[in-house]
Amino acid sequence: MKFVLASQNKHKLVEMQSILSAHGVEVVLESDVGLHVDVEETGESFAENAMLKAKAVMEASGLPAIADDSGVCVDALNGGPGIYSARYGGPELDDAGRYRLLLENMRGAKTRAAHFTSAIACIFPNGDTIEAEGICPGTIAFAPQGDGGFGYDPVFFLPELRKTYAQLTAEEKAAVSHRGKALEIFDGKLREYLKESGYGTDQ
Ligand code: IMP
Repeated sequence: MKFVLASQNKHKLVEMQSILSAHGVEVVLESDVGLHVDVEETGESFAENAMLKAKAVMEASGLPAIADDSGVCVDALNGGPGIYSARYGGPELDDAGRYRLLLENMRGAKTRAAHFTSAIACIFPNGDTIEAEGICPGTIAFAPQGDGGFGYDPVFFLPELRKTYAQLTAEEKAAVSHRGKALEIFDGKLREYLKESGYGTDQ
């Protein structure tokens, strides 16, 4: 079964593929099926935005589509940047610019507690949907550490492992991360759905 990932983010693709391919699910980028769908993320939650993205790509491609909407929610910033994580500080910032801005905005904060959330949404051409959410608690480091991963990985610290996301291997990150947890739940729901609905056996 092939899913089109509603994203241009290759890092998300790799994280998704490594978990879902174990069960015969192939995930491809929009660009792999000749699409670039611009979706306005007007939802008020990660789940709403994930479904908006998946629906737009399913409608454009006619194929089952999957989306992840994710971000880092920082207690001292009242849950921000949250759903605005990708746009934090404006379009001129890159990943490093965004996490540096986050560190700046955390100066003097009384707590560095934070969590990452990932909402996964998938929608089939027949309108059926599957949703899952994963959360990973952690803290915001005082300085960036590690060079793996993407986005805010160098400043998202896991106290139990004493490492940032960026210091983990892909497998280690998948085992504890918000996206890894969401995908595990999603994978269980997908297998149940495929078994019950017989989807894919007649197409
Ligand atoms: P989205 O593509 O609208 O879901 O934006 C998510 C943003 O949150 C990304 O651009 C990253 O900045 C951040 N983000 C989401 N997941 C991760 C992760 O696993 N590590 C680091 N940053 C992430």
